[in-house]
Amino acid sequence: MTTILGIETSCDETAAAVVDDGTRVRSNVIASQANLHLRYGGVVPEIAARAHIERFDAVLDEALSRAQTTPAELDAIAVTNRPGLVGSLLIGVTAAKALSWVWEKPLIAVDHVLAHAASPAIGLPEAPWPAVGLIVSGGHTSLFLIRDYDAIEVLGATLDDAAGEAFDKVAMMLGLPYPGGPAVEKTSAGGDPAAFDFPRTLLDRDSLDFSFSGLKTAVLYTIHGQGRTTGGLDSLTPQRLADICASFQRTVVEVLVAKTMRAVARTGVGCVVLGGGVAANQGLRRALAETCADRGLRFHAAPMPYCVDNGAMIAALGYHRFRRGEFAGLELAAYASSILR
Ligand code: KG4
Ligand code: ZN
Repeated sequence: MTTILGIETSCDETAAAVVDDGTRVRSNVIASQANLHLRYGGVVPEIAARAHIERFDAVLDEALSRAQTTPAELDAIAVTNRPGLVGSLLIGVTAAKALSWVWEKPLIAVDHVLAHAASPAIGLPEAPWPAVGLIVSGGHTSLFLIRDYDAIEVLGATLDDAAGEAFDKVAMMLGLPYPGGPAVEKTSAGGDPAAFDFPRTLLDRDSLDFSFSGLKTAVLYTIHGQGRTTGGLDSLTPQRLADICASFQRTVVEVLVAKTMRAVARTGVGCVVLGGGVAANQGLRRALAETCADRGLRFHAAPMPYCVDNGAMIAALGYHRFRRGEFAGLELAAYASSILR
């Protein structure tokens, strides 16, 4: 058995987890900083980095104790070193290096987006590859062809906002709290998803790329009117607010599902996987599950605890790096961008 500690500090979650053999999660501790960033409507990098420093020790202790393990029993330490806020990444990377040195355990560098892509495999009896992966988070919206843990190819990506970013920005326009995804989903309950016909930007027939900026602008015009002719936010009734949220969510989901099916048609694979923070959205999970079932495709969404940023997905992918002997040295650096794009 191989036991790996996974450390994740790329954005505003301080997270650590212990995972056996890349699939059995023994602990998964996530300290969200959402309350610290709430009043700014988004993540403030300097605040995030400082909060990681303050919380890291407690999160690590909790991850080890919930897993009922000790540093001596670990086989390696995996850490997110890209992509993300460099100041935040550096806290996890520096901590992982220090622990690797002191505990004399190998260090493994993990790309956060690849970890999201592989996260739907956590807990499955066998790897689901090859699969088309829809990875939707605050920073990324990508379609991947996942042939194996070390063979992931980009099929398409967003040309402007990520899907989660669109949820966050629309929430802000509507006076809903950060992070916007859960707030929009909650507010959409009771709303009519057909109330507004927002634009579905599918780009040209061959494209597997995404664009959400037009949708965002359409929501803005719906709230304020073109040229700020309506009463704006103050004039929105709770029902209209719910209708806007439901219609926006439906539009995002339809575009994501349509593009994913395009990717399936192009690659000919028989499996779809879904990961990233936006994969926590029940409407998206349901729509993709139903579409896959209709077309006879296997479908695996990342289990809910491994959708938003977490250490388990870092340890899980770290295990596959471990098996190939891909270790990092103490010179490991942090980078803002993914090794993909
Ligand atoms: O994966 P994640 O934790 O961080 C990044 O790697 O970016 O994703 C965070 C994003 C945020 O934009 C948040 O609004 C979105 O995931 N999100 C959701 C839901 N829960 C989180 N979006 C839609 N519906 C949700 N239930
Ligand atoms: Zn993420």
